[in-house]
Amino acid sequence: MKSKKLFTPFNLKGFKLKNRIGLTPMTRMSSSDSSIPRQDVFDFLVLRAKNEVSIIYTEAIVTDYESAQGYPGQARILNQAQIDAWKPVVQEIQKEGAIAIMQIFHCGRIAWPEVNPANRTIAPSPITVKDKNAMTGFLYPVPKAMSQFDIDHVITGFVETAKGAIEAGFDGVEIHGAHGYLISQFLSPYSNQRTDIYGNSIENRYRFAHEVIHAVKKVIPDDRLLTFRISDWGVADMKISLLGSKEEYQNIIKYLSNEPIDAISVSTYAYDKKAFGTDKNMAQLTREATELPIMICGSIYDHESAKKALEDADIILSAKSLLLNPNWVEDIRANKTLKPYKSEEAAIAYTQEALP
Ligand SMILES: Cc1cc2nc3c(=O)[nH]c(=O)nc-3n(C[C@H](O)[C@H](O)[C@H](O)COP(=O)(O)O)c2cc1C
Repeated sequence: MKSKKLFTPFNLKGFKLKNRIGLTPMTRMSSSDSSIPRQDVFDFLVLRAKNEVSIIYTEAIVTDYESAQGYPGQARILNQAQIDAWKPVVQEIQKEGAIAIMQIFHCGRIAWPEVNPANRTIAPSPITVKDKNAMTGFLYPVPKAMSQFDIDHVITGFVETAKGAIEAGFDGVEIHGAHGYLISQFLSPYSNQRTDIYGNSIENRYRFAHEVIHAVKKVIPDDRLLTFRISDWGVADMKISLLGSKEEYQNIIKYLSNEPIDAISVSTYAYDKKAFGTDKNMAQLTREATELPIMICGSIYDHESAKKALEDADIILSAKSLLLNPNWVEDIRANKTLKPYKSEEAAIAYTQEALP
C-alpha cells in the first residue's frame, strides 16, 4: 500500500494535488538588473509541472531593494514588470495541473555586500559566521544589529513581496525560515544574542517569525496557501545545529502549529538521518509536534527513498534529482535504478549552461 501512496492525491487546503511529489525552491541567480529570472529558468519550472510534479516552488525571492539580497542575480517581485514576468509562468504551471508557490526571504547576515543595493548587512546580532563566503573567498562582514525600524521595515518587504506574488497569480507563498537566513538567524541562539523582546528565550527568538507570518497572512486571500520552511542546518557553518535540541525544535513546531499556515516544509540533507541525538528523523520529530501537513526533502533520489521518506510526511520534495533529471517523477514511478546527485553537480544551476 505504502508504495502507492506517492501517486495518490493529497488535499492541501482545498488544492487537490495529483501526487505527493514537489520541487523544492532552488535559487538560480539568473536575474539581470531587472530582478527578473532568465527565460530558461522559467521554462525549467514549467517543464517540471508538465512532467507530473504537483507542487512547483520558485527560487527564493528577495524581499526588498535594501538589505535582503545575499547573492548576485537574485529575483524580486515588487514592481509591475516583475509581476508581469511571472504571470504567464504561473498560468502555464497551473495549466499543467500543478500548483505554484513563491518562496520569499531575506538573507540577513549571509549577504554579499557588493550585491546588496543598500550595501548594508543586517541581522539580529552583530555576529558573523565563521565560514568564508564560498563565492567570494572572503569573510562575511559583521552585520549591523537590527533596530526596531529595521525589523518593521523588513517585515514590510515580506508583505510587499507576498502581495506581488498574489498579484502574479501564485497559489501560495512560502516564508523561508530555514538555512541560516534572516528568520532562521532570529530563531537560533547561534546568531541571536539579543536581550530585547526578540532574543534570549525561545518565545522571544520566535517573535520575529510570528510577526512576519501574521503580517504576510493579512495579504494572502483565503483561497491561497501560506507555507513555512524550517531546517536545523544553515548554508554557512553547516555542522552547527541551529536549533540545538529536540525540545527547542518541537517548541518552534508547536508555535508554528498555532499560526495561520497550511504546511511546514522541513529541509534536511538526508531525510532519514536521526536528529538531535534521538532515534528519530526530522520528519518524525515534526510529526510528534504538529498535525499540519509536512513536506520533507533531503537525499530522496529513487522510488525506495521517496516511499520511505513519505512514511513520516505528507509530501516529498526534491531539489537535486529534479534539477538534473526532468523525467524524475516518471523514473520513480517506473522504479528505475537512479543515483543520488552530488552538490557539485547541482552547481550547474548557477550557470547559463543548459540543464538536462
Ligand atoms: C541549486 C540549489 C539551489 C537551492 N536554493 C534554495 C532556495 O532558494 N531556497 C531553499 O529553501 N532551498 C534551496 N536549496 C536547498 C534545497 O531546496 C534542498 O533543501 C536541498 O538541496 C536538499 O534537497 P535534495 O537532497 O533533494 O537536493 C537549493 C539547493 C540547490 C541544489
